[in-house]
Formats: sequence, C-alpha cells, structure tokens
Amino acid sequence: MLDAGCGTGDLIFECGKRDRTPAARYLGADLSLPMLREAQGKVHPPSLFMQADCATLPLATGSVSAVMSAFVLRNLRLVLDKSLQEMLRVLKPGGEAFLLEMTVPRSPWLKIPHRLYLEAVLPLIGRAVFGARWSRGYLAETILKFWPPEEFTRMLLKAGFREAGYSTMTGGLAVLYHCKK
Ligand SMILES: C[S@@+](CC[C@H](N)C(=O)[O-])C[C@H]1O[C@@H](n2cnc3c(N)ncnc32)[C@H](O)[C@@H]1O
Repeated sequence: MLDAGCGTGDLIFECGKRDRTPAARYLGADLSLPMLREAQGKVHPPSLFMQADCATLPLATGSVSAVMSAFVLRNLRLVLDKSLQEMLRVLKPGGEAFLLEMTVPRSPWLKIPHRLYLEAVLPLIGRAVFGARWSRGYLAETILKFWPPEEFTRMLLKAGFREAGYSTMTGGLAVLYHCKK
C-alpha cells in the first residue's frame, strides 16, 4: 500500500496498528527528507520510505494494491493532474485509492465559523506556536481554494479512476475520496 505524501508516517503507523494482514507492506513517498527521517523512526520495517514526487512516482506500473493519501491533494496544485495519473498508473487493476482532504463544510451554520477559524483564529495560534516559521495564509488559502467534493470526484473520473465517490467526515470538515482502477 502506497502512502503518497506520507509526511511523518502517521497514516502508515495507524494502519500498521490495525492491519491484521501479515503480508501487508507499506511504502511511504514524500518530497521532504526531514519528514521521512521522522517517519522512519516511528514505523518499523518492513515499511519503506522514499523521497519522491507524487507527480513522478519511481514505481512500476501496476505495482501497488492500494494508494492512500492524507491532506496532500491541496498541496499538489500544478502537479495535481499528473499526480492523479501517477497514482492510477502504479495501482494494480482493481486496486483502490483512498484520498483524505480537508474541505469547506456545506452547512451554513458551520461555514462562517469555519472561515473565521481559518482566517482569524488559526493564524493567531500559528504565529504564537511557530513564530516567523508560520506560513501565513497558506492553510486557509489551500483549503478554501480546493475543489468542492462533487467537482473533485468528477476530476477523479476524468483522470481514469472508476467508481469514484466520497464520504464527508467530522461534520463536513474533511472528505474521504474513494475510487478504483
Ligand atoms: C499536510 S502534510 C500531510 C502528511 C501526512 N500525509 C499526514 O497526514 O500526516 C502534506 C505532505 O505532502 C508532501 N508533499 C507535498 N507535495 C508533494 C509532492 N509533489 N510529492 C510528494 N509529497 C508531497 C509534503 O512534503 C508533506 O509531507
């Protein structure tokens, strides 16, 4: 199972704890070496980590059973289409993809507080905790600008995935997309 944009390996770590399949193998790919180093210290072999761009995965076509990814899609921006093509390419026929991303809640009761939180509260917390290292506006901008779930589902189908769908989580703050090769 490939974790595309694995960061510090939390998803692999959590899957590893719950997975009852002795043959399961996890592979994490991320651009950031410091993130990968941290992941390596957290997750035990046989998980493997590699520095790689989601848009040019150094994996053979049809070589993984499943692809997962958490909170990566909205960071891919210009390479999003290419990355979806790569995820599809490396999947075995019938293989599944599970892509988690944040989104804007649909409920008007949540929409306004959510926007206030992203644009006013979060920057205060970010600056207090990270000081000058806080990337001003990035999180809010990427969440607010990312495609709504229906539209992104259509993009998955257009990229060549089939049976694409999604479920909302945490009151509509996150979306889990699922699709097949
Ligand atoms: C918000 S973090 C999420 C990390 C991890 N999936 C998690 O849920 O903890 C986004 C990750 O995407 C990685 N990333 C961004 N663009 C990438 C790309 N083109 N190829 C591979 N990784 C990328 C970043 O380095 C970062 O680790």
